[in-house]
Amino acid sequence: MNPQVDRLLVIGLGLIGGSFALGLKQRGCCRTVVGYNRNQDTLDEGLRLGIIDEAATDLEAAVRRADVIMLAVPVKVMESVMAQISPWLRSDTILTDAGSAKGNVVRAAEQVFGEIPPLFVPGHPIAGSEKSGVTAAKSDLYERHKVILTPLAQTDRNALKLIHSLWEALGAEVHHMDVPRHDEVLAATSHLPHLLAFSLVNTLANDRENRDIFRYAAGGFRDFTRIAASDPIMWHDIFLANRDATLKVLDEFTDGLAELRDAVARSDGEAMLGVFTRAKSARDHFTKILSGTAYSLPMNDNVIFKVQPGGKVQGQIRVAGDKSMSHRSIMLGALAEGITEVEGFLEGEDALATLQAFRDMGVVIEGPSQGRVRIHGVGMKGLKQPPGPLYLGNSGTAMRLFAGLLAGQDFDTELTGDESLSKRPMERVAAPLREMGAWIVTGPEGCPPIKIVGGQSLKGIDYQMPMASAQVKSCVLLAGLYSDGETSTTEPAPTRDHTERMLTGFGYPVERDGATARVQGGAKMTAAKIDVPADISSAAFFMVAASIAPGSDLLLEHVGINPTRIGVINILRQMGADLTLSNERDVGGEPVADIRIRYAPLKGIQIPEDQVPLAIDEFPVLFVAAACAEGATTLTGAEELRVKESDRIQAMVDGLSALGVQIEGTPDGAIIQGGGLQGGRVNSLGDHRIAMAFAVAGLRAEGEIVIDDCANVATSFPNFVELAKQVGLNLRIGG
Ligand code: S3P
Repeated sequence: MNPQVDRLLVIGLGLIGGSFALGLKQRGCCRTVVGYNRNQDTLDEGLRLGIIDEAATDLEAAVRRADVIMLAVPVKVMESVMAQISPWLRSDTILTDAGSAKGNVVRAAEQVFGEIPPLFVPGHPIAGSEKSGVTAAKSDLYERHKVILTPLAQTDRNALKLIHSLWEALGAEVHHMDVPRHDEVLAATSHLPHLLAFSLVNTLANDRENRDIFRYAAGGFRDFTRIAASDPIMWHDIFLANRDATLKVLDEFTDGLAELRDAVARSDGEAMLGVFTRAKSARDHFTKILSGTAYSLPMNDNVIFKVQPGGKVQGQIRVAGDKSMSHRSIMLGALAEGITEVEGFLEGEDALATLQAFRDMGVVIEGPSQGRVRIHGVGMKGLKQPPGPLYLGNSGTAMRLFAGLLAGQDFDTELTGDESLSKRPMERVAAPLREMGAWIVTGPEGCPPIKIVGGQSLKGIDYQMPMASAQVKSCVLLAGLYSDGETSTTEPAPTRDHTERMLTGFGYPVERDGATARVQGGAKMTAAKIDVPADISSAAFFMVAASIAPGSDLLLEHVGINPTRIGVINILRQMGADLTLSNERDVGGEPVADIRIRYAPLKGIQIPEDQVPLAIDEFPVLFVAAACAEGATTLTGAEELRVKESDRIQAMVDGLSALGVQIEGTPDGAIIQGGGLQGGRVNSLGDHRIAMAFAVAGLRAEGEIVIDDCANVATSFPNFVELAKQVGLNLRIGG
C-alpha cells in the first residue's frame, strides 16, 4: 500500500499508541513514524522493537514537522498535552486521539483551542487489554476490533476520511457516533463491567478468609474478574473522565441488583428465573452475533449453497419441528395459567424471535434446549408492556398473530421485522381488527411496522374472510379472546387449523362448524403439554428429493399430517409419487405419521385448486418436482404465493428458467414443462423455501447449481444442510 501519511507522530507510546505506530509502519501507510514519550526508556524500547522509525527528543520540532498526530496519552493528561503542543501545530496538521472517554477529550480541546479545530478527529479504539506498555504493542491489535470515531459538526470531512482509512488499514471496523452516545455506550459496555470487577475482587480480597476464597475460586470468579487486573491508573482516569454516564448506568444496575437481592431474600424463584432466562437469552444472542449467525443477520449477508449434480437420498430422519405450532405454543402457553411444557419446539430464528418477544413482555420462558421449552404462563391479562418494538424477524405468521393478541391489551406496542417481512401486506389483519374496535396503524402501503394503541375495548365480529389465510383467521380469533361477545371467522377454503386445535388443547372453547370457527371472549386457558411434530413443510423438501432421485428410499419420522396441511402428499401422489404412511397416531390433538418415500417417475398434472391452501408453503419444491416430471404441470388459484416471504411464483419462474426449464408464470400460478434441469446460478431472494427447493433440484440437475442468499434457511429449518448431506445430497455452503 502507498503511504497515505508522510510523517506520523504518535505521542504516548503505550499498548494503544505503540500498536497504532507499529501497525501503520508495517503496512507501509506512513513514510516516517515518529514516537514521543515522556519516558526516554520507553522511546528507546520503541526504537529497538522497530515500532517507530524515529524517536523525538525535541517535541516542538516533531510537532512542527508532523502531518498527522495521534494522542495516545491517558485521558487525564489530554488537556495538558494539547496545551503544550498547540503553539507548534501547523494549520494543516491533522490531530486525532485514542481516549476511551470522548466528552472529556472534546471539552479539553475546546478549552485549549478556544473552539474545536476542524482538523481534530476524536476517536476511540476498543482494543485495550489487561496488558499495557510499549512491550505489549502488536501490529495486529486492531484487526477485527471496533474503532469509534466521534466527529463533530465542524470536523473536516477529508481529515475524518484519512483517520478512518488509517484505522481500516489496521484491519479495524470503523464506526461513527456522536460524543454523548459514545460515552453512554462505553459506560454500559466497558466502564461499568470494569468497575464491578474491581469492586468484587476488592470485596472478596478484604475478607478475612480470602486465601480460601481465592484458592477455591472456580471458573465463574475467573471469568467475571479477569478485567480487574487492568491498569488501575488508567481506569481511575476513565471514571474521572466519564463520570456522568458511568453514574447513570451504575444507578440502573444498582436498582436491578436490589431487585435481585429482594428476590433472593424472598426466595422468589420465579423472579430470579425471569432475570436469569432473559439474561441468558440476551447473552446467547450476543454470542451468535459475535460468531455471525444472529437471527437478525441482514439479508444481504450472502450465504451461498452449492449443489453438485446427481445422487440419491436414503436413510431415516426427523426434520425440524413445525413452525406454525412452535409459534402458537409460545403464544398460548404465555397466556395460559400454569407451566406449559413444549417438546419438539423448532429452534429456528422465527420461532426464537417469537419466544424473545414474549420474554420482552415479561413472560418467564426456560429453554429452548434440545427442543424443550417451559413457559411460565401469566394468564390472559398478565403480559407487560415491552421496553421497545417487538422484532419478529422474517415471520409473517408471528406478526399477524401478534397483531390479534396485542390489539386487546391495555398497553401500546409496535411490531417490526426484517427486510422481507417489511414488504408484506398487513392490512389484511389490520382491517378486521379495526372493525372489532382496535386502534392499529400500519406503515407505508399497509406494510410493517404495525403500531397498536392499547386500551381499546374490542367487540366480536362475524368475519367473512376474503382470502384463504390461516394467519388472518388466527389473528381474528385471537383478538376474539379479548372481545365482548362472539367472534367468528368463515374461510373461503380450508386452511391450517392449529390455532383452533391448540386453543381447545389449552381448555379454551372453540366451536367449529364447517368453514366457520367461533370463540366467546373472556374465557381462560390452562397450561398444557405440547408435542410439536416434525414440520410437513420441511419434510416436503425430502419427499420431493426422494421422489425425483432414482434409487432413493427415505423414511421421515413423526411428521405432522393434519388434514389441513397434507396437500403436498395428495399432489405428489397424484403425480405418481410412491409415498406410504405408517405408525399413524394422535399426539396432543394433532395427527402424526412416519412417511416412507421411494423413487418413482412423476408425471405432470393440473393441480386441483382445493389442494392449494393445503400445500401453500410447499409450491417452491413442488415446482421442482414438476420440472422433473414427464409432461406439463399447471397451477392455478395460487395468487397468495405472490405475497409470501418473496413473490414465490416469480422467484421460481426466474430460477427454473435459469436452469433451462420451460416455465411460464401467470397471475395466480404457473405452467411448468417437465423434462429435467441444467446447472446454473439462481437467487433465493432471501426466501428460505426457495433456497431449499433449489438445493433439492441439484439431485436431478445436469451441472452444479449455485444458490445465492440462503441465510434465511435458518428461519424455518436450521439443520437443513446437515440433514440434506446426511441423506445423500451433495450440498455445501460457500461464501
Ligand atoms: C401459516 C399460514 C400460512 C403459511 C405460513 C404459516 C400459519 O400463511 O403460508 O407459512 O402458521 O398460520 P397464510 O395464512 O398467509 O396463507
